[in-house]
Amino acid sequence: MYDDHQKVVLIGDGAVGSAYAYAAINQGMTGELAIINHTKEKAIGDVMDLEDATPYRSSLKIYAADYETCYNADIVVICAGAPQKPGETRLQLVTKNLKIVKEITKKVVSSGFDGIFIVAANPVDIMSYAVLKQSGFASEQVIGTGTSLDTARLKIALAKMFNVNAQSININVLAEHGDSEFAAFSSADIGGIPLLNLISQEGYTLKDLANVEKSVRNKAYQIIDYKGATFYGVATAIMRIATAILRDEGSVITVGCYLDGQYGYDDVYIGTPAVVGAGGIQEIIELPLNIVEKQAMASSVETLKKTTRDSMIKAGMINYLL
Ligand SMILES: NC(=O)c1ccc[n+]([C@@H]2O[C@H](COP(=O)([O-])OP(=O)(O)OC[C@H]3O[C@@H](n4cnc5c(N)ncnc54)[C@H](O)[C@@H]3O)[C@@H](O)[C@H]2O)c1
Repeated sequence: MYDDHQKVVLIGDGAVGSAYAYAAINQGMTGELAIINHTKEKAIGDVMDLEDATPYRSSLKIYAADYETCYNADIVVICAGAPQKPGETRLQLVTKNLKIVKEITKKVVSSGFDGIFIVAANPVDIMSYAVLKQSGFASEQVIGTGTSLDTARLKIALAKMFNVNAQSININVLAEHGDSEFAAFSSADIGGIPLLNLISQEGYTLKDLANVEKSVRNKAYQIIDYKGATFYGVATAIMRIATAILRDEGSVITVGCYLDGQYGYDDVYIGTPAVVGAGGIQEIIELPLNIVEKQAMASSVETLKKTTRDSMIKAGMINYLL
C-alpha cells in the first residue's frame, strides 16, 4: 500500500499527536514513524503502547527519537503546543506557542530535513506562517491543517440534516481555523445538486444553514467543555493529508495554505481546498465566492494578518514580516 522507505516524524506526542500515531497504525501505514516529545518518557511510553497495536494492523516501525532523525523524513508533523491556562489571553497563548514552534522548526531544519511540514498546533494558521518563515522552505512544503477539521464538522452536520453519507457532500469551510471561519455554501453540492437549491427542496431555509455553520464554529468549545480536548477529528485529518503526500495522490483536500494572490490576498495562511501530492501543495483551488462570502473572507484575512503580525512581533520574529 505504501512505499516501505517512507518516514514520518511526529513532534508533540499529546492528545492530538498520539491520536494521529494511532490513526497511522490503524490505517495500515508502513515504513517508519519517529516520535519526538518534550518529555521523552511520554514518547517512549507511547511507543511501547502503540507498537502493541501494529501486529494486528501494520508493519510500521515506530520509535522515540531526537531531532537528528528528521534529516531523511518525508514528513514532519507538528502537534506540539502549550495548552491554554486559566486567565491566559489568546494572544499570550499565541506568543508562547510561536516560541515553541520556532524552536522546533529551527531544530528540524538543522537536521537537514527537506520534506513536507504538516502543522496542527494552534492557532494553526499563525503557526503555519511561522514554520514557513522560520524554515525558509517553499510554501508548497508547509501545509497547515487549516479548516480540514471544520470542514469535516460541517460535513457531518449536513449529513445528519440531509440523511446522506458525509463523504458524499462537497463543501469547504474557508479562511481562519477559528471564530472568523465561514462555510462556502455557494459552491457546495450533494450528488451534483447545488446545496442552495437542495435546501428549499428539503424544506430548509438559509437560516437553517446559518445555524449549522454556527454550530460547527462552536463545536470545539462544546467538546472541550465535555471532555477537555478535541483530537480524533484533527488526527484523522492529519492522516488524510499525510497519506495524500506519501502516495502522491494529487487529491483535493481542505488544508491550510499560504496565499500568493489567490482570493486577492497574499502573505497569509488560510483554509482552502488544494491539490495535495508528494511535493506538498500542488495547486491552491480558488473557489468562486458570492458577495457575502467575499466579505467574510476579507474580514477573516484581516483578523489573521493582524494577529499574525502582533504575535510575531511579540515572539521576536519581526524580521520575518514583509
Ligand atoms: N488544528 C486543529 O484543528 C487542532 C485541533 C485540536 C487541537 N489542536 C492543537 O494541537 C496542539 C496540541 O494539542 P493537544 O491536545 O495534543 O495538547 P497536549 O497538551 O495534549 O499535547 C501537547 C504535547 O506537546 C508536547 N510539547 C510541548 N512543547 C514541546 C516542544 N517544545 N517540543 C516537543 N514537544 C512539545 C507536550 O509535551 C505534549 O505532549 C495544540 O496547540 C492544540 O490547540 C489543533
